[in-house]
Amino acid sequence: VLVKRPHGIPQPGDFEVRNASIERPFTAPLVVRNKFLSVDPAQRGYVNDENSYLPPVPLGGVMRAMAIGEVIHSVDPRYAEGDHLFGWFGWQDYCVTDSASVLRKLNPAHGPLTLNLGVLGINGMTAYLALYGIGAPRAGETIVISAAAGALGSVVGQLARQAGCHVVGIAGDDDKCRVATTRYGYHAAVNYKSAVPLPEQLKAACPRGIDMYFDNTGGWILDEVLLLMNRHGRVIGCGTVAIPSWLPQPQGPRQEREILMRRLRMQGFVIFDHQHLFDETAARLAGLIEQGVLLYDEDIEDGLESAPAALAGLYQGNNRGKKIIRLAPGISTS
Ligand SMILES: NC(=O)c1ccc[n+]([C@@H]2O[C@H](COP(=O)([O-])OP(=O)(O)OC[C@H]3O[C@@H](n4cnc5c(N)ncnc54)[C@H](OP(=O)(O)O)[C@@H]3O)[C@@H](O)[C@H]2O)c1
Repeated sequence: VLVKRPHGIPQPGDFEVRNASIERPFTAPLVVRNKFLSVDPAQRGYVNDENSYLPPVPLGGVMRAMAIGEVIHSVDPRYAEGDHLFGWFGWQDYCVTDSASVLRKLNPAHGPLTLNLGVLGINGMTAYLALYGIGAPRAGETIVISAAAGALGSVVGQLARQAGCHVVGIAGDDDKCRVATTRYGYHAAVNYKSAVPLPEQLKAACPRGIDMYFDNTGGWILDEVLLLMNRHGRVIGCGTVAIPSWLPQPQGPRQEREILMRRLRMQGFVIFDHQHLFDETAARLAGLIEQGVLLYDEDIEDGLESAPAALAGLYQGNNRGKKIIRLAPGISTS
């Protein structure tokens, strides 16, 4: 439950665990027993009173989160007891809800349940739909991807490599850079925290300039990348983790002249505009996993209590792959 309105990155003290019981017989149209909870950078925007695509979680409200749960009661003929669903089920053990909170019914043939929170979930689907839908990568182009070794960036890197691009990642430590190049198909990866300035590293890694930037961070990293973009380059605005707080409005260099002179196109993307494509996109990504050409990593912690710190940890780069909370230790992923 959110008990304090954070300024900037939410911290464990902003949340409390509370107990409540559900009355039987169930009167709600849908009751789900959560198994796995998602931890997403976007949750910062759900608790701060800032411009977001959803209204802020009220104080005293259950933390908004995507989760995977098993149906234990449903009046909707599409969802039967025992089905697994992906939806807006919150950071809680059980969700008493209705069908409007369901994002997808899961296909057991697609492998372990947890995949549907990461590589087959919002992260993988955003990578796929934003890269092809906005970026339209062409063989021989140079693409730069920030948060390169994360749940989303790792998928973009592999897809861009398959499209024939020269793929360069930006990540926050040397180990993540190594994983990006040895596991996720990046041709090169640069550490934005190293002593060597980021522009210098990017110039060396992108000798033909940058045609496309898949921006997962915004902030100063975006400012630097814009100065290296080729004419008619494309920028996909996907995430803003590098901005510590939106209140007050952050100040920075004004880059509109760079956008104009370089004839750049910059477009934002929000995955929830594309829900009609979720089943089809997850199936395509599952196919790539089955063929062995799409790798993923998961970073799973146990227990509801660990969720708030896991969210703060995303903003310190602590995660190695998709951050997931497992609600009962030993619970099977299948
Ligand atoms: N637009 C959409 O519809 C949509 C959907 C899903 C996700 N996203 C966005 O995609 C991005 C990646 O999300 P994800 O869920 O896959 O998380 P993730 O990449 O697995 O984890 C977040 C990563 O962000 C990096 N980071 C944290 N603070 C940073 C800072 N101050 N400066 C630069 N990098 C920082 C860290 O990696 P390093 O250690 O490499 O810094 C961290 O591991 C996020 O911006 C998220 O909001 C957007």
